[in-house]
Amino acid sequence: MSETIPAHGGELIDLTVKGEDREALRERAASLPKLRLNARALSDVELLGNGGYSPLRGFMGRADYESVVESMRLSSGLPWSIPITLAVSREESGKLREGDDVALADESGKVLAVLELAEAFDYDKRGEAKAVYRTDDEAHPGVAAVYRQGDVLLGGPLRVIDLPSHDDFPDYRLTPAQTRAAFAERGWGTVVGFQTRNPVHRAHEYIQKCALETVDGLLLHPLVGETKASDIPAEVRMRCYEVLLDLYYPADRVHLSVNPAAMRYAGPREAIFHALVRKNYGCTHFIVGRDHAGVGEYYGTYDAQHIFSEFAPGELGITPMFFDHTFFCKSCGGMASIKTCPHEAKDRVILSGTQVREMLKGGLVPPPEFTRPEVAEELIRAMQERTTPRYAV
Ligand code: ADX
Ligand code: MG
Repeated sequence: MSETIPAHGGELIDLTVKGEDREALRERAASLPKLRLNARALSDVELLGNGGYSPLRGFMGRADYESVVESMRLSSGLPWSIPITLAVSREESGKLREGDDVALADESGKVLAVLELAEAFDYDKRGEAKAVYRTDDEAHPGVAAVYRQGDVLLGGPLRVIDLPSHDDFPDYRLTPAQTRAAFAERGWGTVVGFQTRNPVHRAHEYIQKCALETVDGLLLHPLVGETKASDIPAEVRMRCYEVLLDLYYPADRVHLSVNPAAMRYAGPREAIFHALVRKNYGCTHFIVGRDHAGVGEYYGTYDAQHIFSEFAPGELGITPMFFDHTFFCKSCGGMASIKTCPHEAKDRVILSGTQVREMLKGGLVPPPEFTRPEVAEELIRAMQERTTPRYAV
């Protein structure tokens, strides 16, 4: 099989244990101390297990953790921008000893993996927040998640018995090995990855198609792990993608699959992380537009692009493709960006996510220059079907 690009660190990691070893581990795990993980930690187990986080082989120990927080590198020197940690309460960690094997279970109690506890260590939450999120404000959803989690981090290698299972999007749950195989089957040499956590709109479509003009294929890779309550749920976003792909995209050039990761909202640091994970999924290129992975006013519009210049060319392996703020311009008569459009603000159809959510809640259709009508229809239906206050902004 020809491959588009090697995984980060050179080797695509697979932590799943196979055959007899797997059954033996499952049996042994039944008598080990057990930790029940929340959705965020489970998504990390999934991405560690399936190689989405290559070269990581488990939850970070102190040396990697501190190095990543301080300098965006693993202790080996390899670029890595977001800590991948397993936080527990002091009470829980008090029951464990370094050197122990610990069973990691899902929310129902089913054991999925075994952690060889190499170290349990204290850490500085505020320091992590400032370095990784560039703020220690507890109103930031990523920072809030760090503050909420336990005070002790458990580090060590992981062996995975079963990857977390999901009832939703069964056709789109491809592992990095599977997306790589899909690209090879289609004969793609270059593939651009697209991260998203929002409903697809025309600016997304425009930058995806601009990027696709210069590469062989497009991996649409919406993040479907935990997001903040005011974000549109993944099942709605996926329906939007399905109608859009059906009507407006060349089927033989686009691959839709999901990224199980939780959203960190870490802006620049998360852009690097998103790129490295997509590299592991086989992408050679990665789109970074305006305020990538941002939230509120914490980051400058293009900070998530500028951070790429902190790495030497080739160090990340994957090539970022940067896009300025794009929109439909009535005078251009088409999609454009602040880089390519000479007209005034009044000609440009620009709406914030909050504005669009307000329109949809009121049953108003966003203009076709902003959202394709077929997508708007899906969004309005979802808003009207809502039975829980999940969508409250
Ligand atoms: S997020 O991960 O960055 O939060 P989102 O769905 O909002 O996801 O955006 C997906 C990608 O499209 C990001 O790279 C973002 O920078 C880019 N993007 C979104 N809207 C625009 C726009 N109007 N112009 C340029 N890039 C955009
Ligand atoms: Mg955004």
